[in-house]
Amino acid sequence: MSTVDEQKRASALKALEFVEDGMVVGVGTGSTVRHFIEGLAALQDRIEGAVSSSEQSTALLKQHGIRVLDLNAVGPLALYVDGADECDPFNRLIKGGGGALTREKIIAEASERFICIIDKAKNVELLGRFPLPVEVIPMARSLVGRKIVALGGQPVWREGVLTDNGNWIIDIHHLRIVDPLTLERELNQIPGVVACGLFARRTADTVISAGELRKKR
Ligand code: A5P
Repeated sequence: MSTVDEQKRASALKALEFVEDGMVVGVGTGSTVRHFIEGLAALQDRIEGAVSSSEQSTALLKQHGIRVLDLNAVGPLALYVDGADECDPFNRLIKGGGGALTREKIIAEASERFICIIDKAKNVELLGRFPLPVEVIPMARSLVGRKIVALGGQPVWREGVLTDNGNWIIDIHHLRIVDPLTLERELNQIPGVVACGLFARRTADTVISAGELRKKR
């Protein structure tokens, strides 16, 4: 039996097989991605550079000597590699446990292929046990909170946390997400919501769980 961290590392190493010469690689955030960045360091002379989804990953990439590029300067990316907090059988995800969901969503959208790297515990039948993060403009916090209650969730402000974009995070507890696509749309429509951590419209293209390519249902 491998540990959770070994499973994360195995997924990250498998994802490295998809990195091709000359690529600009989109890089996510979190403890699984940390393994990916460590592996990418060995390939740094073969790639053009990386687009980072957070200040945390930017610092790590630079620490490993990997060139960090601006998404606006490099256009569409061939590959984005990132972790997730939950992943359902249709490759729909909850992300944002680390608070980087908005930039992660932007890079996922700008990428041709999104490879999600996870440990086994992230695989779920139904999304929602992990509290769903939503990034909000600070002045809209209580408005968004009331709208979330109306949608059947319990909003909890991640007090003291400021995102890389200068915003706040609300985590939605006690959701059974039976229709992720509709919930994503509803949350996106609330004024003051910057992005929500549901990846139902732009799902992962490939999921690697504990080092194994997982079949999509
Ligand atoms: C960061 O905001 C998240 O979306 C991460 O991808 C997610 O929380 C997974 O993190 P770990 O790889 O640390 O489990």
